[in-house]
Amino acid sequence: MTESTKNATLTIDGNSYDLPIYSPTTGPDVIDIRKLYSSAGVFTYDPGFTSTASCDSTITFIDGDKGELLHRGYPIDQLASKSHYLEVCYLLLYGALPTAAELEDFEGTITRHTMIHEQMHNFFRGFRRDAHPMATMVGVVGAMSAFYQDSSDIADPRQREIASHRMVAKMPTIAAMAYKYSIGQPFVYPRNDLDYASNFLHMCFSVPAEEYVVDPILARAMDRIFTLHADHEQNASTSTVRLASSSGANPFACIAAGIACLWGPAHGGANQACLEMLKEIGTPDRIPEYIARAKDKDDPFRLMGFGHRVYKNFDPRATVMKQSADEVLDLLGIENNPILQVAKELEAAALADPYFADKKLFPNVDFYSGIILEAMGLPTSMFTPIFAVSRTVGWISQWKEQFDDPQQKIGRPRQLYLGETERNYVDVENR
Ligand code: CMC
Repeated sequence: MTESTKNATLTIDGNSYDLPIYSPTTGPDVIDIRKLYSSAGVFTYDPGFTSTASCDSTITFIDGDKGELLHRGYPIDQLASKSHYLEVCYLLLYGALPTAAELEDFEGTITRHTMIHEQMHNFFRGFRRDAHPMATMVGVVGAMSAFYQDSSDIADPRQREIASHRMVAKMPTIAAMAYKYSIGQPFVYPRNDLDYASNFLHMCFSVPAEEYVVDPILARAMDRIFTLHADHEQNASTSTVRLASSSGANPFACIAAGIACLWGPAHGGANQACLEMLKEIGTPDRIPEYIARAKDKDDPFRLMGFGHRVYKNFDPRATVMKQSADEVLDLLGIENNPILQVAKELEAAALADPYFADKKLFPNVDFYSGIILEAMGLPTSMFTPIFAVSRTVGWISQWKEQFDDPQQKIGRPRQLYLGETERNYVDVENR
């Protein structure tokens, strides 16, 4: 925490309260209201935390007006084009780009943690075949607490580190197994001679009868999807992980909580919802109908893959994703893909519409990612699990950071109570 350099003064009923202001390295100042209740007897009110900073962090910075996303200071477009996912994982976890030796060591560690406890296979078999892979992932990741008790003691920094490595390493295995189970195919073990993204594709598409030859361009596209989703500061699922962890819960339980939160269509579930929407629209001539529905206050429909709580200019991840969609479809020889056509025309129509311009609604990372994943052969139900695989390192980095923050305490928001005041219980026969 930096020193306070200035104060804000709040006046309530003629009494003034000085509140310290802290300046970040970049971004808006924050007003420290921690002592407000004890000094003034009032709470602040901010449903959805639109103006509330919940912690200090040095991991990720977003400037929503400029469309800027930095991890440890490095712009996402540079990381997406010059780096790769495991290097970004190291950067997020440890704060600096690794040397060649550090990277080799880290990659070796992650690679050697990719298998899961054999007995965990039984867990998958307990689920119905038609279970959504996210449902399976929430359950199986939570169950890791029961299998990896030797890295569940959060008071031990070494155990915390092993838990971090285990989660980054095992998440692709768990997601791929959830997929294989849902289509009735045998589980495919990880291969340590493959890089992170290639190994994931291998575990999804290989079958005992036929080895899957990973196309390096598809592996690169998958790696880029992982990189673009790696972290996004204090979003809903990350805040969920931090809140769960603030009670002292074990790391596997905290990440399972993050996966559950990510599943919702307003968050990580948007990539599945977006592709389903694009398919439902089907042809460009139906775009005006859907734009009209998105603008209609009486219709709950929203353009999926559009809008963001923080980005109010453009989502820099969407720019890279759109480029990647073109490259992947080109590579696969998919010309004139009707869904990509609908996506591009929908984007153009929405951007030209004053409703979306006035509300600063732009395509987000999920608008084009589904098109790439579908072209690779993945079903829509796997889109959010892939987001969960990618975001695991972000959750873990933020979880890890929380332990080094002396100011962290259990998360416990207050409320504006609008219910009944005290009243006497009425016996059932008198109601
Ligand atoms: N389509 C139509 N109208 C929209 C949309 C949309 N996609 N998004 C926001 N609006 C309108 C909304 O109706 C509201 O209008 P008004 O001010 O007249 O009431 C205004 O824009 C502000 O919306 P909000 O819901 O107050 O904004 P928010 O910051 O709470 O929500 C959001 C952000 C991402 C949840 C929202 O834009 C949304 O639901 N988008 C669709 C789902 C989606 O694509 N989510 C993925 C987000 S990026 C990946 C991730 O972080 O997981």
